[in-house]
Amino acid sequence: MTKTIGTPPPEGVVSILDADYHDTEQMLADAANVLDFSQPVAVLFMGVLGYARSYSDAAKIVHTTTAALPAGSYLGLWDGTDDHPDYVRMCEHYNRSGAVPYTPRSRQQIRALFDGLEFVDPGLVAINQWRPPATEIGQATPLPACGALARIPTR
Ligand SMILES: C[S@@+](CC[C@H](N)C(=O)[O-])C[C@H]1O[C@@H](n2cnc3c(N)ncnc32)[C@H](O)[C@@H]1O
Repeated sequence: MTKTIGTPPPEGVVSILDADYHDTEQMLADAANVLDFSQPVAVLFMGVLGYARSYSDAAKIVHTTTAALPAGSYLGLWDGTDDHPDYVRMCEHYNRSGAVPYTPRSRQQIRALFDGLEFVDPGLVAINQWRPPATEIGQATPLPACGALARIPTR
């Protein structure tokens, strides 16, 4: 169900969907109540797909969503990666708490979520290395999470 907050201002509206992204078609149908899918749209999956029931579910969610977007739309996505043992152990500890389990993925798996899209510079990188502020001193140690912004090309 879609609920619009407040009176729509000229610059747009804020709308919240109470949805499970595994119900991707329903999520998109609800979003179409407030978004014009004939115009470019930006979709963000920011640190959320590790909660998907499986990697293949995560891939299906992303590919179903991007397939519904017109050319010129953008996908922003990051998630935790499995290349840092301490972080993997921390996730395992968290998962034993009874919370919805979070599964870090390999960088290759996260890269594959962008298949068919055009990366915006600097491409897929550790999230703290995505356009770091010019004032940053030295190179930050890469975090165990990577992401990118990518454009949906003309099909
Ligand atoms: C770590 S928080 C990320 C928050 C924020 N995007 C950020 O970048 O800081 C994970 C979010 O994933 C959401 N989430 C987990 N499982 C979900 C699902 N099946 N469908 C939709 N959202 C889900 C949770 O509600 C939570 O808000």
